[in-house]
Amino acid sequence: MAGSNFKKDMNQNDVIDSAKGFFTSFGILFLVFLIALVGSIFFPPQHGEQAGGGATAPAKVDAESVFKTTCAGCHGQNLEGITGPNLTKVGSILDAAAIENIIKNGKGGMPPGMLKKNDEIKAVAEWLAAKK
Ligand code: HEC
Repeated sequence: MAGSNFKKDMNQNDVIDSAKGFFTSFGILFLVFLIALVGSIFFPPQHGEQAGGGATAPAKVDAESVFKTTCAGCHGQNLEGITGPNLTKVGSILDAAAIENIIKNGKGGMPPGMLKKNDEIKAVAEWLAAKK
């Protein structure tokens, strides 16, 4: 009968409609997921970039600990002087450039080339030049 056929068609359409609805919303979810995935590939999380930036910036040198491991054997842990002279007021007689020069070239009984890295030499020289 036409009536029952019509009802059957309705049911089929309902099934197709809900299937369409399901796949459409699933498709949107899938699209969002794809965009997020592609986005994370082309725009990686910012914290990774910051870590990279920190690595390319010169590492902060701890002048005091460099001095204690390299220089304190002769100048003392507190700059009080042992075989080398007291450096507690070295900044009032030598500026950073002069101290840098002594670190690089040595002086009298002080051996040259104790520090090899330029940023360490600079940091220690500036740290000592501030001792007045
Ligand atoms: C082997 C021992 C020794 C070590 C290690 C040493 N020094 Fe010296 N240092 C000396 C001696 C000795 C003198 C004095 C040299 C002179 O006037 O003839 C001196 C002098 C200096 C002076 C000049 C002080 C002044 O009054 O003229 C500075 C600055 C200095 N040292 C810094 C350093 C720093 C920084 C380090 C570490 C990188 C260092 N020294 C490591 C033995 C040492």
